[in-house]
Amino acid sequence: MRIIKAADYEEMSRKAADLIAAQILMKPDCVLGLATGGTPVGTYRCLIEKYQRGDLDFSQVSSVNLDEYRGIDRENPQSYWYFMHDNLFHHVNISPERINVPDGRNLDAAAECRRYDRVIENYGGIDLQLLGLGLDGHIGFNEPGPAFVMDTHCVDLEESTIDANQRFFESREQVPRQAYTMGIRAIMQARKVLMIVNGKNKAEIVRKAFFGPVVPEVPASVLQMHPDFILIGDEEAFSEIEA
Ligand code: F6R
Repeated sequence: MRIIKAADYEEMSRKAADLIAAQILMKPDCVLGLATGGTPVGTYRCLIEKYQRGDLDFSQVSSVNLDEYRGIDRENPQSYWYFMHDNLFHHVNISPERINVPDGRNLDAAAECRRYDRVIENYGGIDLQLLGLGLDGHIGFNEPGPAFVMDTHCVDLEESTIDANQRFFESREQVPRQAYTMGIRAIMQARKVLMIVNGKNKAEIVRKAFFGPVVPEVPASVLQMHPDFILIGDEEAFSEIEA
């Protein structure tokens, strides 16, 4: 595990974008595992700037997103499909046929999860996986539980996750209760994993996940075992650890 300290959100975002840009420069046809949520928005903004300056070419890049709500249309502004297009894909030259997000419109959970695992396998896995960190230690929507779940699967979201996501919806009732998420295998088999964390509210879970035992009750703790795991955080997120 490599820890990179940033002064604030902007610096964290710049450092993460630099590492992703390096990956694309080294391997123009790389497979990027991407995340949604508040944390990566600044990173995507920096990547768009690099693209606009002519420093980055996404034309051969493929993307596989971590997760999607089950039972949501792509046109719904709260879908992760929409989020990714709004925050990154519409602003760079990635080919639409190389964009992959679990299909929230497919209510057949078993079929959709199998399909998504095949997509990742057919690419030969992920070169760089970008992750945020849930307040309960989730990665993707791999929520705390009695065991790590390896394959892409359908999850019932934790109450704390529904609370955290409520800010994006008009009411708590509108927050979907289930989601499809990439499993721990695809994340752990990614050749490089990059997590970004910011803010005081992440400080406690950062300490638990990366300075405590590796347990499925804190899903992100499994990343301690990854051979190329980089954690970039701001001072607030690292305030409970010696970084
Ligand atoms: C989103 C995802 C989630 C988020 C996590 C942190 O695709 O996989 O695990 O990364 O919930 O969310 P933010 O960044 O909003 O704090």
